[in-house]
Formats: sequence, structure tokens, C-alpha cells
Amino acid sequence: MKPLASRPQQMKRSGIREILEIAVRTPGCIRLEVGEPNFPTPPHIIEAAHRAALEGKTRYTLSAGIIPLREALVQKVKNFNGLDVGIENVIVTPGSTYSLFNAFEVLLEPGDEVLVPDPGWPTYDTQVTLAGGYTARYPLYQENGFRPVVADIEKSITPKTKVLVICNPSNPTGAVSSEDEIREIIELAARHDLYVISDEVYEELIFEGKATTAAKFDPERVISIYSFSKTYSMTGWRVGYAIAPTHIANWMARSVEPNVACASEPNQWGALAALTGPQEVVGEMRQAYQRRRDLVCDVLREKGLLQYVPNGAFYIMIDVSQAQMDSYDFCKELLKAKKVACAPGATFGPRASGLVRVSLATAEDDLVEGVRRLCSFVEEQAASLRTAAIR
Ligand SMILES: Cc1ncc(COP(=O)(O)O)c(C=O)c1O
Repeated sequence: MKPLASRPQQMKRSGIREILEIAVRTPGCIRLEVGEPNFPTPPHIIEAAHRAALEGKTRYTLSAGIIPLREALVQKVKNFNGLDVGIENVIVTPGSTYSLFNAFEVLLEPGDEVLVPDPGWPTYDTQVTLAGGYTARYPLYQENGFRPVVADIEKSITPKTKVLVICNPSNPTGAVSSEDEIREIIELAARHDLYVISDEVYEELIFEGKATTAAKFDPERVISIYSFSKTYSMTGWRVGYAIAPTHIANWMARSVEPNVACASEPNQWGALAALTGPQEVVGEMRQAYQRRRDLVCDVLREKGLLQYVPNGAFYIMIDVSQAQMDSYDFCKELLKAKKVACAPGATFGPRASGLVRVSLATAEDDLVEGVRRLCSFVEEQAASLRTAAIR
């Protein structure tokens, strides 16, 4: 038979999935590997989607999403993000995962280079591969709290670089860049004529500092990516959206159709209720993540493993290099020995190969217990290395 397409075969496997698959088969395991809020979707959102379905709003919609939701998003990005756009700039998709792919599809020619953060969310790399491009990485340093530095990005730019991806607040580090830092990055992109994809899906989950909308510094150059998943605990609803300049948005909207037709109609009505309904839920979840972040930092500080304090999202990277294990092996052994699942740093990029990512989206007691077990595992490994060295 003729060979299958080569691009899917070039996709790297996600280390998060690899550990998840073992974790689901490990009874009683504490799950700290996935970025999935443990809160239920607020009831008023469920009711709105239910009502919509009962009213027969169960059809295909416009590829870019139902008009009332896009109108509400125009208001949201005006009030929250300071962007002045029309509904033609708003593309609602089945999750922001597809908004990102949609942007890559529209921007990339075969062989184009995309700069992504290291460490960064592994899906960028997979999507760029599928869209025919390839990724290069710019480094993020723990000493700088994992916030990108313009000079480091600039050194990574080549004549083939076409797109720069930034993620603020960051998955996997929880770093939050300041407004000045983001402005400088966008100015750099302008100097090198790069498109910017600014992944801001964690914009509402910031504990210290504030959200910065990269697009406000150069609306013609930046595609902003947002999601209902994290803000409203709606991961399974699959509703996200992009805000793009008109000449790009037109093509993004057009390419939604052959790929996915549209996002689910009842779920779009649910998303509308999320946006226009009570917002206290968002603050409550944010406070819960912050409390968990503090509890985890206390444990790490006590054990001498706290390297930095994340200011947003719901992740923390933990340096486990004392155990002198490859991060995949570390996660697999930790699971076996202590029944705790976390994500191997190496899946986020080579710079994180001595780190693991812990998600704070798990209930408090489990989270603290899981991090305690992780710390004891590091201590035990380090102690046995010392013993071996003495012998
Ligand atoms: C940085 C980042 N961007 C985008 C997404 C995609 O979220 P969704 O497709 O649920 O909107 C995720 C999900 O984990 C993420 O961490």
C-alpha cells in the first residue's frame, strides 16, 4: 500500500498523555498531570445550554459562531482587553486548541519557522508540524521567573521565522509577563516583521500583576487566542475564540468550515451565558487556585525545592534535578513508587528536562499530599545517590 502522510508521523507524542495513560490505570493515584479544572461548570451555564437545546438551537451555525456570542465577545474584548474590534474579527471555534491551529493554517507555508517558548505548551509544536511548518525555540529562564526576555527571543530569530508564539500567563510555568515586557516583545516582532500568536487563555487566572493584551500594541500583527475552558471550567464544552485582524480573520473563518463546520450550537449559547451571567464564579475559582499555589509553595519551601513563585494560570514547575533522572523516568518511577502523576518537563522543551509540571487544578488535600510525596521521592533518590557515591 502507498505510505501514509508523513506529517502526522512527525508529531511528537505529548508526555502529559503518556503519563495520563498510566495514571488512569493506577487505582488511587493522585492526578497532578493534566491542566483540567476540578470545578463543575457553573449551573447557569448548563441551564442556558439545556434551554437552547430544548428550543431547537441544535443546528449548524455560521462557521465563525453565532452572532449574539460574537457580539458579546466584541464587548468583552473592548471592556477587558481594550481592543476595538467588530464581529468580523471574532472567530468562535471548538476550543481554543482549534483557534490556534486555525491561525497556523492561515499563516504558514511549508518550511516556515515558528518560534515557540521553551518550556512551552507542546501542542504548539504538534500543530505547527501538522500545518507544514517547523518550530524553533526561544529560551525561558527560571532565574527570570520564566518570563520571556526580548534579547533571548531576538537571538532565536532567523530569516525563516514567520510567527512568534507567546503564552501569557504561561502553561507550563504560570509566569505572568508585565505590560512593558509584552510591549517590547511586540515591538521586536514589528522590527522583524513577524506575526504574533498571543495565547491568553489563562488571562483571568492571575494572582499578582494583571492581564496584558498583546494585540493592543499592534492589532494588525497579533492574533489573540482565548478560551472558555479555563475561565469558566468548561473544558469539555469545547468553546474558544480568536480575535484577529480582518485580513487574517476572513481566512480563519473560511478555514473553520472545511475542518469542523462550526462549534456546537447549544454550547455556544452556554458560552454566551458564561460571558453575560454572574462573574463571581471566576473570582472564586481564581482564589482557590491562588490558595493552592500558596499551599504548594509552602511545602516546596519547607523541603528546599521552591525555585520561583508562579503568578498565574494553575501550574508550577518543580526542579527535580537532584534525583538525576530523565524527567519521563522520574514521572514514571514516581507514579509507581508514590502513586502521584505529574507531567515530565521534557515534553515542554529541552530546557525543562530537569523539571516536572504540577497542575494546581486538583483538590487541595490531594494536591498537598501529592506534592509532599513528590518531595520525599526526590529526597529518597538524592539520598540513595549520595550513598552510592560514598560506597
Ligand atoms: C496554553 C494553552 N492554550 C490553549 C489551550 C487549549 O484550551 P481549549 O482548547 O480547551 O480552549 C490550553 C489547554 O490546556 C492551554 O494550556
